Amino acid sequence: MELRTRTFWVLFFLLQVLAGPAEPAENLEFFLPGDYLLGGLFTLHANVKGTSHLTILQVPKCEEYDMKVMGYNLMQAMRFAVEEINNQSGLLPGVQLGYEIVDICYQTNNIQPVLYFLARTNYFLPIIKDYSYYIPRVVAVIGPDNSESTITVANFFSHFFLPQISYSAITDQLRDKLRYPSMLRTMPSASHHIEAMVQLMLHFRWNWIVVLMSNDDYGRDNSQLLRDRVARGNDICIAFQEVLPTPQADQVATAAELKQLESIVRKLKQATARVVVVFSPELALHNFFHEVLRQNVTDIVWIAPESWAADLVLHNFTGLQNTGTFLGVTIQEVAMPGFSEFRVRRPEAQPERPPNNTPRATCNQECEACLNITKSFHTVLTLSGERVAYCVYSAVYAVAHALHNLLHCSPYHCAKKTVYPWQLLREIWKVNFSLLGNQIFFDEQGDVPMHLDVVQWQWHLRQNPFWSVASYYPTQQQLKMVSNISWHTYDNSVPMSMCSKNCQQGQKKKNVGIHPCCFECIDCLPGTFLNQTADEYECQSCPGSTWSNRKETSCFKRKLAFLEWHEAPTIFVAVLATLGFLSTLAILIIFWRHFHTPMVRSAGGPMCFLMLIPLLLAFGMVPIYVGRPTVLTCIGRQAFFTLCYSVCISCITVRSFQIVCIFKMASHLPRTYGFWVRYHGPYVFVALITALKGVIVASNMLTTTINPMGHTDPEDPSIMILSCHPNYRNGLLFNTSMDLFLSMVGFIFAYLGKELPNNYNEAKFITLSMTFSFTSSVSLCTFMSVYNGVLVTIMDLLVTVLNFLAISLGYFGPKCYMILFYPERNTAAYFNSMIQGYTMRKD
Ligand SMILES: *[C@@H]1O[C@H](CO)[C@@H](O)[C@H](O)[C@H]1NC(C)=O
Ligand SMILES: *[C@@H]1O[C@H](CO)[C@@H](O)[C@H](O)[C@H]1NC(C)=O
Ligand SMILES: *[C@@H]1O[C@H](CO)[C@@H](O)[C@H](O)[C@H]1NC(C)=O
Ligand SMILES: *[C@@H]1O[C@H](CO)[C@@H](O)[C@H](O)[C@H]1NC(C)=O
Ligand SMILES: *[C@@H]1O[C@H](CO)[C@@H](O)[C@H](O)[C@H]1NC(C)=O
Ligand SMILES: *[C@@H]1O[C@H](CO)[C@@H](O)[C@H](O)[C@H]1NC(C)=O
Ligand SMILES: *[C@@H]1O[C@H](CO)[C@@H](O)[C@H](O)[C@H]1NC(C)=O
Repeated sequence: MELRTRTFWVLFFLLQVLAGPAEPAENLEFFLPGDYLLGGLFTLHANVKGTSHLTILQVPKCEEYDMKVMGYNLMQAMRFAVEEINNQSGLLPGVQLGYEIVDICYQTNNIQPVLYFLARTNYFLPIIKDYSYYIPRVVAVIGPDNSESTITVANFFSHFFLPQISYSAITDQLRDKLRYPSMLRTMPSASHHIEAMVQLMLHFRWNWIVVLMSNDDYGRDNSQLLRDRVARGNDICIAFQEVLPTPQADQVATAAELKQLESIVRKLKQATARVVVVFSPELALHNFFHEVLRQNVTDIVWIAPESWAADLVLHNFTGLQNTGTFLGVTIQEVAMPGFSEFRVRRPEAQPERPPNNTPRATCNQECEACLNITKSFHTVLTLSGERVAYCVYSAVYAVAHALHNLLHCSPYHCAKKTVYPWQLLREIWKVNFSLLGNQIFFDEQGDVPMHLDVVQWQWHLRQNPFWSVASYYPTQQQLKMVSNISWHTYDNSVPMSMCSKNCQQGQKKKNVGIHPCCFECIDCLPGTFLNQTADEYECQSCPGSTWSNRKETSCFKRKLAFLEWHEAPTIFVAVLATLGFLSTLAILIIFWRHFHTPMVRSAGGPMCFLMLIPLLLAFGMVPIYVGRPTVLTCIGRQAFFTLCYSVCISCITVRSFQIVCIFKMASHLPRTYGFWVRYHGPYVFVALITALKGVIVASNMLTTTINPMGHTDPEDPSIMILSCHPNYRNGLLFNTSMDLFLSMVGFIFAYLGKELPNNYNEAKFITLSMTFSFTSSVSLCTFMSVYNGVLVTIMDLLVTVLNFLAISLGYFGPKCYMILFYPERNTAAYFNSMIQGYTMRKD
């Protein structure tokens, strides 16, 4: 409420001030009488935002500033639209639309035209409580062009619900319809412009950019929008940003300004970022680009926002094409037939203003030089096509359509009734019509969703200087390239602007500094891989049975290692096993043939076969160590050989026991001896030991697993070794512990019987066998604790085969030798003589 009161005081005060002497000249271009007047706010003359005009209590004289051709072009578009509507019989039949246009001089002349439009025809703005039925001079206002002026103006007009349609103010603040209920525009908002820019950068993979901004709302707001957008996307980084100095009103650069510009341009020249976004009104850029040209900057991609994306004056700077590629984001181009001729047409004599108004016409409605200067730009303006001019044109048409609906026009006649601004505003929100191929309607934010173009600046004569290369569709948020860009690079290649080059396949990123775009590339180590979709910054380790080389994006299945036939160690052991098998077979046959001889009997008689057959089987089963382990071969490897071994060892032990103790047992413990003989004590003992060993082996297997397990080869991680026991060494120790114990017992008996005749004395052999088995087991375990590769299996096999060979050749070999080569010693008589000799020695 207080704000409103204050506004009115300001209005009142200013009206008093402005009621001074009015401009004498009447310019026909600025005024057209009609039944309903539209206000128009354009920038025909421009000054850099200066405050010098606020030091005197006068409206600034715009004609003192440089003329702005683009502004005049837009004003002509409004005049063109009104004239076209008045010519047409279909829209507003019988109604004459008029206009009142004021040059706002960029930002220096905002308030005076506002008051002028709000006041009645007699320059009187009443201070009243209720403006619902107040009729201002104009029914709607078109403009102004820049965001700052638009916000200033909209603050006033919103109090009166006076419809205001801006044609190029893009700031997002204006989307707030609670603050600016009567403000609409025929241009997409700034966030769409920013999104188009970002998508352009992403399309060309530019992620390292420089942002330059003017020291005003335009620069600050838009660069903030861009910063927010890239922070959200996390795919573009801003190398640095600089604020451009605000030039003097007369555009003459001061020493301080030059120094600042020089350092900015020097920094730009040295930067690795080659893409530069410049958020600034075009007027503040003249000095900047002079400095850019002076320092011979080249190879930059300049990205221009709406404010200078299609600026003819900057485009006309000599030598600018050598500084790089210029890309601008601006509104789409729409051809407006007839406008090109209209633009440079000298206004015809118009009817005079109503006499009572004549002396008090508002100021800044003159531009003597406009037409002549615009004529000099005629060719290039025609080549450029209409972009923002169409926004002005469609804004006028939107008001006309709303008025048409409000006046309930039939095809021939309109009811020319009084129009209150709020009534018209309601109708403007509802319009939806087609104009030169585009559907014009306002979305919830009061914007017309026109699409945007990315234009490339060109300097070839007779060509559109702002050539469309891409289109951005706000509703789909999508950028489509429509034409190739001719890059200002020596081979027309797309310029690069990246902080770090993309990593190669299989390299992870490591951030350097704070920007996500700057990183080092580090190879993923063997055994890890990079899943780019999941995480670019961390290599993941390969799962279970897979492995990878350095710098990989996936893992391969590890090579399985197991014993194979064609390998030299396998062949060696196989040959040993074959020899063992053949010699054991030979021994078996020899023993069979000489079964009844004393040598065989002393060796254990039938028990020899109990040893020889498992030995034969064990040698024959050696092939199950070769090839890929399966559950069956694992059971075989872990159980079969060790059972065979236990049978042999227990046989030997029980024989030593019998030789040494059987007589003592017969004399001292006759009952036990009776049992021993009656129940075939040795066989029971062997069966018991075997059963015990079976239990040990089974429990060992059951407590772990019988499935073959894979583990990594310590020397080459890309190889996986398949083995039968997760902890082979402990399993082995466990399995052989009882064998060792039996060997020990056997050794003790053998030692006790060391005095026996040679042919009964096995102490040597058992000592040998036990020592061998013991040392081989110990060395195998030692070997395993330092080495875990595939050789473990072959060592295990070798030790097993050698243990069996030791029994086969060491125990049976000498006996066979005697049988074959000393048959005279293999007689009962010889044995008897030996025993007699022994007993005599004992006595
Ligand atoms: C309007 O009609 C007049 C007279 O026919 C013509 O000279 C003028 O070019 C027309 N204007 C437009 C904008 O069509
Ligand atoms: C720019 O180039 C011109 C001619 O090539 C040279 O005279 C001038 O010194 C250069 N300026 C700078 C700042 O390097
Ligand atoms: C515009 O140009 C015409 C001739 O081309 C000339 O007669 C007229 O004086 C010029 N007007 C101004 C304001 O310079
Ligand atoms: C462009 O600049 C040149 C001088 O730099 C000037 O003579 C000319 O009038 C300007 N405008 C056009 C449209 O060429
Ligand atoms: C405008 O009119 C067109 C066709 O007449 C229709 O397809 C579109 O949905 C309308 N838009 C709105 C916002 O009403
Ligand atoms: C761009 O140029 C390439 C070859 O240089 C061509 O194949 C492609 O069609 C062109 N694209 C457009 C949109 O013109
Ligand atoms: C990579 O990660 C994605 C997402 O986490 C997943 O869908 C995909 O399967 C992974 N690819 C590989 C090869 O692991």
